Amino acid sequence: MKQELALEILKKGHNVFLTGPAGSGKTFLLNTYIAYLKKNRISYAVTASTGIAATHIGGRTIHSWSGMGIKDQLSDKEVEKLLKKPLIYKRLAKTDVLIIDEVSMLHAYQLDIVNKILRHARGSWEPFGGMQVILAGDFFQLPPVRKKNDLPTQFVDQSQSWKESHIKVCYLSEQFRHTEDALTTILADIREKKVNKNTHTLLQKASQKKLDSAQERTRLYTHNLDVDTVNNRELHKIKEQSFMYRMVSDGNDMLTEALKNGCLAPEELILKKGALVMFVRNNFDQGYVNGTIGTVIDFDEDRFPIVETLGGEEIVVTPEVWMIEEDGEELAQIKQLPLRLAWAITIHKSQGMTLDRAEMDLGRCFEYGMGYVALSRVRTLQDITLLGINDIALQVNPTVFEKDQIFQKMSADLEREKEIDEKNILSEKSIQPKRAKKKSTSLAEIRLHYPHAYQPWTQKEDRELLSLIKKKKRIDFLSKKFGRQESAIHSRIRKLTK
Ligand SMILES: Nc1ncnc2c1ncn2[C@@H]1O[C@H](COP(=O)(O)OP(=O)(O)OP(=O)(O)O)[C@@H](O)[C@H]1O
Ligand SMILES: [Mg+2]
Repeated sequence: MKQELALEILKKGHNVFLTGPAGSGKTFLLNTYIAYLKKNRISYAVTASTGIAATHIGGRTIHSWSGMGIKDQLSDKEVEKLLKKPLIYKRLAKTDVLIIDEVSMLHAYQLDIVNKILRHARGSWEPFGGMQVILAGDFFQLPPVRKKNDLPTQFVDQSQSWKESHIKVCYLSEQFRHTEDALTTILADIREKKVNKNTHTLLQKASQKKLDSAQERTRLYTHNLDVDTVNNRELHKIKEQSFMYRMVSDGNDMLTEALKNGCLAPEELILKKGALVMFVRNNFDQGYVNGTIGTVIDFDEDRFPIVETLGGEEIVVTPEVWMIEEDGEELAQIKQLPLRLAWAITIHKSQGMTLDRAEMDLGRCFEYGMGYVALSRVRTLQDITLLGINDIALQVNPTVFEKDQIFQKMSADLEREKEIDEKNILSEKSIQPKRAKKKSTSLAEIRLHYPHAYQPWTQKEDRELLSLIKKKKRIDFLSKKFGRQESAIHSRIRKLTK
């Protein structure tokens, strides 16, 4: 399916699984849809399964957005407790479209928790409380990280919420990242379980290629330890003055922590003239995007590094801000140069990126999809140097292969349906995404719990409220005391303390 048709289907408000090979433009299309939602003032949430994937689309993790955190399960009681937090409740209740990128790395049970929370928050038994849900990702890529004693991984399509959500599958078929036949053939062979002699012969070219030590490339490793070792070793080799940049954070501790976890720039960045770096943010005005590689060639008078990109542009790199906002109000931010050392990164972290040139060791792959993710980060086979490869690297999960056949068929059926529709209805109106049904609790029901809900505040109550705030009384206490919802207490405090 082409991106244009998939976009039309998204605009109609369906719940959609947006899938397709690496580089088919899933994330690109999400960004196009986000621009559409913004223009039409439809409220949306941009999230991803990991912090790093979230930074590619300017979002946050689904864990932090939904409030579920790292919980494996959430009882009704815990959900109610969570929804007592006005910020979370408001956020979940008012969103009309939820976007989750890189869903291959999300467990089925996590999607079910999100579903449960949203149903409670919105007082609706419709899937996800009635909001439109867009799940983007590719199950041939990396699966969710498993804890030691976890049961076998279940991808999100095995969740109860997926089954209930009447998900339409849009399988993107065009290729935008790989611009050359050899690499496209290798990647297609892997997906189609057709790895053969020819695939290996093509890959051999990549393993025989030697880059000279001065040539920039990102080294991809399966294990974290190798990454840190290589980066530190390479930096250490440079006999130049070190410059250290420390991340500055501001706001809610938990949110700044989440930002730090999701941000590829380190808390302490040490640079030297000659260091190989990678940009970890998009900044089209400045001339870099996430994944652009370059070398630090100097430092300016303010001690900011000057980076020369592979494309030959010189950029003075100044700090960028990563923040979490809500309703225009900033809740947390971190500030750092949008750079990291780029001699090496893990394959896991590279998922979602486009790299200029990569050297990879696939000799210790331990997960289906690792080899596919690594090889699919670049544009041509010439951009790859292969140091080693094991059997698992080119294998795909057999169940994913079966699923994929079904997804391709569902997408083709949808395309045909659309063609028939277009023949029958010449000018079909574009439907706005369905808006969530508002929670329809009657005032009488609310007053069962909060006897004074929606009554005007008296001066006496105002005085008493102010004095109790000074005594640092908690919101749940104040809610009980005044017989009003916690959100009402919050807004009265804001009004009185303005
Ligand atoms: N319609 C388009 N026009 C121009 N460039 C595009 C288009 N679609 C995608 N691209 C570019 O192709 C590259 C790959 O796109 P993108 O990262 O969205 O793919 P993806 O399907 O999300 O891949 P992955 O599965 O690796 O996350 C990016 O550099 C993106 O900017
Ligand atoms: Mg992507």
